[in-house]
Amino acid sequence: MEDDCKPALNTGLRGVTVASTKVSDVIGDLGKLIYRGYLVSDLANKASFEEIVHLLLFEKLPSHSELDDMKARLVAERDIPPAIIDALKTRPADALPMDILQAAAAMLANHDKDVNDPSHDSVMRMAIRLIAKLPTVLAAWERIRNGKAPIAPDPELDHAANFLYMLFGERPTPELVHFFDVTLLLHAEHSFNASTFAAREVASTRAHIYAAVSAAIGSLSGELHGGANVRVMRMLLEIGSPENAETYVEQILSEGKKIMGLGHAVYKTDDPRAHILAPMSKRAGELAGDTRWYEISRILEEKGKKAFKERKGTDIFVNVDFYSASLYYSMGIPVDLYSPLFAIARVAGWTAHVLEEQFAGAAPKPMLYRPESRYIGEYCGPAECSFVPIEKR
Ligand SMILES: CC(C)(COP(=O)(O)OP(=O)(O)OC[C@H]1O[C@@H](n2cnc3c(N)ncnc32)[C@H](O)[C@@H]1OP(=O)(O)O)[C@@H](O)C(=O)NCCC(=O)NCCS
Repeated sequence: MEDDCKPALNTGLRGVTVASTKVSDVIGDLGKLIYRGYLVSDLANKASFEEIVHLLLFEKLPSHSELDDMKARLVAERDIPPAIIDALKTRPADALPMDILQAAAAMLANHDKDVNDPSHDSVMRMAIRLIAKLPTVLAAWERIRNGKAPIAPDPELDHAANFLYMLFGERPTPELVHFFDVTLLLHAEHSFNASTFAAREVASTRAHIYAAVSAAIGSLSGELHGGANVRVMRMLLEIGSPENAETYVEQILSEGKKIMGLGHAVYKTDDPRAHILAPMSKRAGELAGDTRWYEISRILEEKGKKAFKERKGTDIFVNVDFYSASLYYSMGIPVDLYSPLFAIARVAGWTAHVLEEQFAGAAPKPMLYRPESRYIGEYCGPAECSFVPIEKR
């Protein structure tokens, strides 16, 4: 028994390969992100989010007619049940938007007869519904919490444009639509991160896809995952102006704290998505008549990387959250919606993984996740504990 008393473990599954996937890959050393064989840096600015949804769910880039069909299916599924709008109206205005989104994902299952049909076609239909409806939920919540009436989706508008329209109540400019469409594409998928693993783990029990996506949203809500973009923006607001950026770097590093938006668990180069977002952040700042947030970010990147190298002797790199924060801010999007924006994009990847998990797109067929743990509590001694009646404890 003594030998079983081993030190506590906390591996976070780092370095453990738990499944095969054809959905995506992150090659951290080379700074490459691949969606079904395509470099994301090639897809961005060329493909639309709807094309990426097709690529992730149907495993190929669409033809013109397939894309038209994909768009039509998403448009047809955008409305959310009035009962969900009514439920949103009962929530306190200061509820966390990620909690709203997570609850809504679960509630949507109540209104979908397909939850009782585990066939591939049924799960695909539900996947498309989730991708179509979560933006409507989020935009509706933003308006309801501000005392405004939700805006119905506009079938004339594509996915990105429609979301901005439902959020702001006016048709966005083509340039802003393009920026937002690219952010959706860049956040759509990222291999076995925490939230995707959560979705796959739930799907492996054969729970329905709403349960899997709801769990994934909960996972993404944590500040070590989808919450980092919010922390980047709060840091930029705290710094306030470009003149303060260099001093901030020195102060933060000398206190042993972290500069938000730098560093990544997998990338050992700049995150390829950050290079696509940086010029958009600059341009969005110009359009808003205030490039301060981009400028602060640029100085933080330069000085932060240099100071980190001087102190630690190793390099540090920008991640996806570094420039998305200032981009969203210049677009006028409320800061606490940044993580939900991540979710309405990543739902494309989560649902692709659920389909793969349940229908074995990759061989061998996936199985129920059931890791082992190392028990280090009582019973490590010579014998198990004997039960003590409550009055004698
Ligand atoms: C993302 C992150 C968790 C990756 O972590 P990691 O690669 O496992 O690296 P660690 O957290 O173990 O840090 C290694 C060292 O670099 C330092 N470091 C890591 N990221 C840093 C940052 N952004 N700013 C300053 N120092 C940083 C750590 O303090 C640590 O120093 P130490 O060895 O003296 O203790 C980490 O870089 C981080 O917290 N970044 C800021 C938050 C963020 O942007 N998150 C979004 C990720 S997409």
